[in-house]
Amino acid sequence: MKPTNSPKTYRVKSFGCQMNVYDGERMAEMLGERGIVPAPEGEDADLVVLNTCHIREKAAEKVYSDIGRLTKGKTQDKAPMIAVAGCVAQAEGEEIMARAPAVSMVVGPQAYHRLPEMLDKAVQGERATDTDMPAIAKFAALPERKRTNPASFLTVQEGCDKFCTYCVVPYTRGAEISRPYGDLVTEARKLVDAGAKEITLLGQNVSAWSGEDDKGHAVGLAGLIRDLAKVDGLARIRYTTSHPADMDDDLIAAHGEIDKLMPFLHLPVQAGSDRVLKAMNRSHTAESYLRLLERFRAARPDLALSGDFIVGFPGETDAEFEETLKLVDAVGYAQAFSFKYSPRPGTPAASMEGQVAKEVMDDRLQRLQAALNRDQWAFNRATEGRTCEVLVERKGKHPGQWLGKTPWLQSAWFEGDVGIGDLVQVELVEAGPNSLAGRLRERVAA
Ligand code: SAH
Ligand code: SF4
Ligand code: F3S
Repeated sequence: MKPTNSPKTYRVKSFGCQMNVYDGERMAEMLGERGIVPAPEGEDADLVVLNTCHIREKAAEKVYSDIGRLTKGKTQDKAPMIAVAGCVAQAEGEEIMARAPAVSMVVGPQAYHRLPEMLDKAVQGERATDTDMPAIAKFAALPERKRTNPASFLTVQEGCDKFCTYCVVPYTRGAEISRPYGDLVTEARKLVDAGAKEITLLGQNVSAWSGEDDKGHAVGLAGLIRDLAKVDGLARIRYTTSHPADMDDDLIAAHGEIDKLMPFLHLPVQAGSDRVLKAMNRSHTAESYLRLLERFRAARPDLALSGDFIVGFPGETDAEFEETLKLVDAVGYAQAFSFKYSPRPGTPAASMEGQVAKEVMDDRLQRLQAALNRDQWAFNRATEGRTCEVLVERKGKHPGQWLGKTPWLQSAWFEGDVGIGDLVQVELVEAGPNSLAGRLRERVAA
């Protein structure tokens, strides 16, 4: 590659999970420190960071089509500089370098603190790949938080040791590590100083977080939440994603005790058949999962539940799929994500016998989503008439209209004289399948 001018504008495009969104924000901050500014809406950027996800097939294919779109018909001096970050970068770094000459940087999710050095090289015309995994060193090397949204993310835990047989995350994000307690309290305070009212603690297995508090006592996620709840100006705490294996009594109790901890739990189950769960290497059964939810609901009766599902795992029979529907009926989810099984290279399930035909998966997904949508709408309808706190996150489609989140993570829109970041009391007037129309009652705090 030829040496080129230093980029003046950037665009970071994040795909996949909220941890990628967090990483994307941190990369944007680093580029900002170098004086590179976000490209104005609708204009080409000099540097594009594709922050990729590898969880399902289409996600990776999208990266190549994005690269194609960015460079189509452009000579090298007109095309943007491209960095590929995230989980596809980790899994297929070499392949990307070989297949896409327009890419000048490939950086894995645990190495992106080195993006500025790589950028220096790229400006000199050198292509660079970094897929090392020094997770803690990464966080220490990142700049301080200065800007954020009212609802912010804070990665507290990275990686996964669970090795569900379908999943790439243990390979792309590495082993489970917990960021130190003190660093998290500091970052949470900075986020609040920068305007955050709500913080969602993130981890591929956030409930596996563990650390030592400032008195040297061992603490788990519940202990961290308790201490973060003392941060002045922070109104709401959430966490995601949890694994049923790591949910302890303390975390269940925290839902009943800490007002700032929102009544929402995302607890993926994946399937309703115990045979399938075992083949997935999930450590729970349908029954143990339901019992766990009962304990959470006993601690916090208005808890809204969310989950993840995979249909068509290798060997899943019609009868086994019916058990997933049965479990959905038993839980009554407020929202959920559901996916067709996608074989991921290098994972045990990819070479299992009994791969399920696409048409069968399509049919199962459609039936599952119909059930989940029905329950989501029912949950929304059950909240009609309640007046609750809403955090205003952005403007709505129409002038004077605002959009925010209820404590149960529903989107609510309403009209009134408010601003982004306000916490307001809203009466939920009319439930739709995906959101609720509300009426502003009063402002709570600016
Ligand atoms: N750590 C979380 C979620 C990680 S990935 C957990 O354990 O639940 C998010 C979701 O993607 C998973 O919950 C699963 O439902 C889905 N997923 C992961 N690998 C998949 C695959 N190979 N095919 C289809 N869906 C998959
Ligand atoms: Fe993937 Fe399972 Fe780990 Fe979740 S717990 S990230 S699904 S391996
Ligand atoms: Fe995707 Fe990586 Fe997240 S594979 S879901 S971006 S951990």
